[in-house]
Amino acid sequence: MSRINEHYHKLQAGYLFPEIGRRVGAFQNDHPEAALIRLGIGDVTLPLAPAIVEAMKAAVDEMASDEGFRGYGPENGYEFLVDAIREHDYAPRGVEIARDEVFVSDGSKQDSGNIQEIFAQDIRIAVTDPVYPVYVDTNVMAGRTGNADDDGRYEGLVYLPATEDNGFMPGPPSEAVDLVYLCSPNNPTGAVASREDLEAWVSWACEHGTVLIFDAAYDAFIQDESLPRSIYEIEGARRCAIEMRSFSKRAGFTGIRCAYTVIPAELTGSTSSGESVELRSLWSRRHATKFNSVPYPVQRAAEAVFSPDGQEQTRQQVAYYMANAAQLREGLAAAGMTVFGGENAPYIWIRTPRGLSSWDFFDRLLEEAQVVCTPGSGFGASGEGYARISAFNSHENVAEAIRRIEKAFGS
Ligand code: MLT
Repeated sequence: MSRINEHYHKLQAGYLFPEIGRRVGAFQNDHPEAALIRLGIGDVTLPLAPAIVEAMKAAVDEMASDEGFRGYGPENGYEFLVDAIREHDYAPRGVEIARDEVFVSDGSKQDSGNIQEIFAQDIRIAVTDPVYPVYVDTNVMAGRTGNADDDGRYEGLVYLPATEDNGFMPGPPSEAVDLVYLCSPNNPTGAVASREDLEAWVSWACEHGTVLIFDAAYDAFIQDESLPRSIYEIEGARRCAIEMRSFSKRAGFTGIRCAYTVIPAELTGSTSSGESVELRSLWSRRHATKFNSVPYPVQRAAEAVFSPDGQEQTRQQVAYYMANAAQLREGLAAAGMTVFGGENAPYIWIRTPRGLSSWDFFDRLLEEAQVVCTPGSGFGASGEGYARISAFNSHENVAEAIRRIEKAFGS
């Protein structure tokens, strides 16, 4: 019999979202008539913008001709998309990124889960708590942790509690670590890092030789123009940060899949003998070995996000979701709840009412209001006593969800 990777046995029973799906499925079985409103997983609901659809259709038509057919694409992305990313996501903010520093992929979930492969087995890792579970679970699978304690915290990881007291944006730890995962706008708390927050992280990371993984999958939801969207807006970040961005939430690509990772040329790690190595060359090697590029029509669709029509149409979609976020903030606060986030992010983070645990609140919300949320404790021990409400749904469903929540829990 083949032996298995037993590190998988250290993982908590199931990945958070399938566990939610299981509970929701059981509820639906028992109550087939219930009209559920899903504000759990952060999945987009608006249809693809017309400019994106047109570009994708045109690319498929191209593929149907002898001249236009394409097989394997360049592993790191077609130049037309890489250049559009550089020109639209970075240049306007004064950030210069070279072509060979951009790696187009099929998702930030994959990238943030896979990036650990280019680092040594015995590095020390810090994560915020609560945290997007992918960062933790992939390091558990890779054998970089011991077992989880009763609160679900893995031995060997450094947890940085994100609390009401620190505005859900913890600063650098007092101990030395090699790798830190940061996410801003934050999933799950909806908090966003200020320029000062990022300056503190970058200067600390440069001083300690720490690599920051900066997950900016939700950057398009930042409403306050004075806030940084890229960590490379901060002096020194090219020497310490890897950035990940996605088309999933900003342009409705959760089912189409396209994202990218930036690794600047200056960012290096070291071998055990002290030799310095460019991290981008390791990531490029990994990409070339394990990945065969995002489909051509998908990359053309992603390019169309940057066309004048694509920018306007996706801007309207983001505004639609952010109107939901504002409605949720207001409605839940009026129902007596303590509400965070939702101003520069599509997630609202609430303190669970009546001192309920996160999962008890999840169950009662499902049973009494037929609304699905995400229990905060699913993102880490410091998320206990909180829940995440997503703004990805229709205005009508959000208004109805608020009415039901008010009825079930209103003070
Ligand atoms: C979430 O709900 O946290 C997201 O949908 C997860 C993801 O983007 O993978």
